[in-house]
Amino acid sequence: MGETRWTQPPILGVPLADLRRDRTSVKWGVHGSDVIPMWIAEMDCAPCPAVVDAVSAAVSRGDTGYALTEEYAVQVAAFAEAEWAWDFDPRTTTRVADVLTGVTHLLGLFTDPGGPVVVSPPVYNAFYEVIEACGRRVVEAPLGADHRLDLERLAEVFARLTAEGARTAYLLSNPHNPTGTVHTPAELEALARVADEHGVRVLSDEIHGPLVLPTSTFTPYLTVPGTDRGVTVTSASKAWNLAGLKAAIIVPGDAAVDDVRRLHPFVTFGASHLGVIAQTAAYRDGRDWCHRLVDELDANRHLLADLVTDQLPGARLVVPESTYLAWLDLTDVGLGEDPAGEVLRRARVALSPGPIFGSGGRGHARLNYATSPEILRDAVGRIAGILE
Ligand SMILES: Cc1ncc(COP(=O)(O)O)c(C=O)c1O
Repeated sequence: MGETRWTQPPILGVPLADLRRDRTSVKWGVHGSDVIPMWIAEMDCAPCPAVVDAVSAAVSRGDTGYALTEEYAVQVAAFAEAEWAWDFDPRTTTRVADVLTGVTHLLGLFTDPGGPVVVSPPVYNAFYEVIEACGRRVVEAPLGADHRLDLERLAEVFARLTAEGARTAYLLSNPHNPTGTVHTPAELEALARVADEHGVRVLSDEIHGPLVLPTSTFTPYLTVPGTDRGVTVTSASKAWNLAGLKAAIIVPGDAAVDDVRRLHPFVTFGASHLGVIAQTAAYRDGRDWCHRLVDELDANRHLLADLVTDQLPGARLVVPESTYLAWLDLTDVGLGEDPAGEVLRRARVALSPGPIFGSGGRGHARLNYATSPEILRDAVGRIAGILE
């Protein structure tokens, strides 16, 4: 079984020349052709065959109308049950365009204009943007130095905000982008407890859930006792590289079902028919593909850790437990507060700048290692070249 996995061509084996020729998406489109792009969360992967078949067949037969999303919800639930023993009723879910759109709708339900939304930086930069776009206010409760949730800090921040009388939400990245931290059941249970104590609603973004690497176990927030007022939003767009085929799903905890029912049915029109077809196929028929991908990411994270140790003196990397994103501490390598800028200018490698991930981002950069080992070696070699 293990052998057959590795005798198949690698998923993350697409050569650089092919990527440059074939990719027209934002990752490959915004920099010059001398730059290796390792920034935005797109993968340099071959596509999942089940998705290719489903989308190609739909387009060929002219099945390009409006989306019907019930089967999508059924397949997300079947996947969640099979992977994580997470059992939810697909009829309680709401399908939307993408995860950030889902978050937007939920912030509208659970917070007021100008009201606070708590995040734990360093955290996915678009959380800041979506909160601002909704006319809400970001309040930070940073991760601890160990990159784990700081529950005391969260309790303090929740207490302060709710004492001011503000309806408050907490936006959780589960697992955590950019550090790759996988929250434990105990941490999630403690989070739910402090959130409940202060009437804070937890919104759990689980888009990276299937990308938890073999040494860790993913815990869906809503499987933890005491989380039933929480709401999860997820999508196949990260794990199967389908950001261009839009669909996502909102899954309410038992005590949040009625809240989520208040969303206008119009919100479901955002999920595209081809996105729903693609993601339904991914969840139903793409499990093995995703497991193979995770094995390759596991190898890549160790390769990256070795390359950093051997070639980037002064750089620090806590090997990620999940996602294909690595959070590099470059504070001591002499590239200033925003090392990604210098790396782009001098090494022609595009990383995500640490400061956009909020407090704790200075001196850091995020590297996307969902690429071939050859490209990874090339990129780190280039960065090493400017540190000499
Ligand atoms: C934690 C997290 N949430 C959401 C998204 C974006 O998801 P979507 O394109 O479905 O809005 C990303 C993309 O990288 C992400 O890392």
